[in-house]
Amino acid sequence: MSRIKYVYGNWKMNQGLKEIETFFEELSENQKDWKCVFGIAPQFLHLSKVLNSTQNMNVKVGAQNCSHKESGAFTGDISPVSLKELGCDFVIIGHSERRAFFKESHEVINEKTKLALSLGLEVVFCIGETLEQREAGKVEDVLKEQITKGLEGLTAKDLENVVIAYEPVWAIGTGVTATPEQAEETHAMIRSFLDSDTAFNASTTSILYGGSVKPSNVEGLLSNENIDGALVGGASLKAQDFNALCEEASKLS
Ligand code: 13P
Repeated sequence: MSRIKYVYGNWKMNQGLKEIETFFEELSENQKDWKCVFGIAPQFLHLSKVLNSTQNMNVKVGAQNCSHKESGAFTGDISPVSLKELGCDFVIIGHSERRAFFKESHEVINEKTKLALSLGLEVVFCIGETLEQREAGKVEDVLKEQITKGLEGLTAKDLENVVIAYEPVWAIGTGVTATPEQAEETHAMIRSFLDSDTAFNASTTSILYGGSVKPSNVEGLLSNENIDGALVGGASLKAQDFNALCEEASKLS
């Protein structure tokens, strides 16, 4: 079964106003013909600017996180209701940087996911093992636990709007990419688990890979049967690289 490819850029805590302007000036004219799904997740403060800059484009716009509650006394938090109201298409939940630096638990990730989905936001649900866990032979257990606990209680209908992003922590921002074989093997394992143990329709679910994806390695990764796209940090910051990633994903879609 062939699924459309994705390229989502996670800008993390990068890009100022000037860089954002330059990025959209340099985004390829070809974008209107790209067959892949492509999108950008800027910092919260820049969502309006990115939404305004992409009004006549097919670019999806997403947030990198959201609150687990709709409203209330949660100083400094950002409601997914506001994200939806602003016009966001998707939200990234459970990124390993949120899990590690902000101590996000499976339970809070589950609450965020449920709430975002109930509001009609697509959820890019991130999973991934650390190097220590990989070396201890725990990859399967770690990923299965993240999926089971983080997506507990969601129905097949809810899960239609979930995209999984497999991002091995040891490959994020390190320049070390999982080999296409390593990534494909893990993606195949994830898909088979989704099929046998969850309410997902595994054959239509998109599973993206993330971790040092760049123009030079994207083809090798995305040409695999079970790798449906890329969630890209560093290489999504420059329009030239993002263009190249989308061109390749479009060809493979
Ligand atoms: P890099 O592409 O910079 O390794 O980041 C990957 C990532 O964390 C995307 O969410």
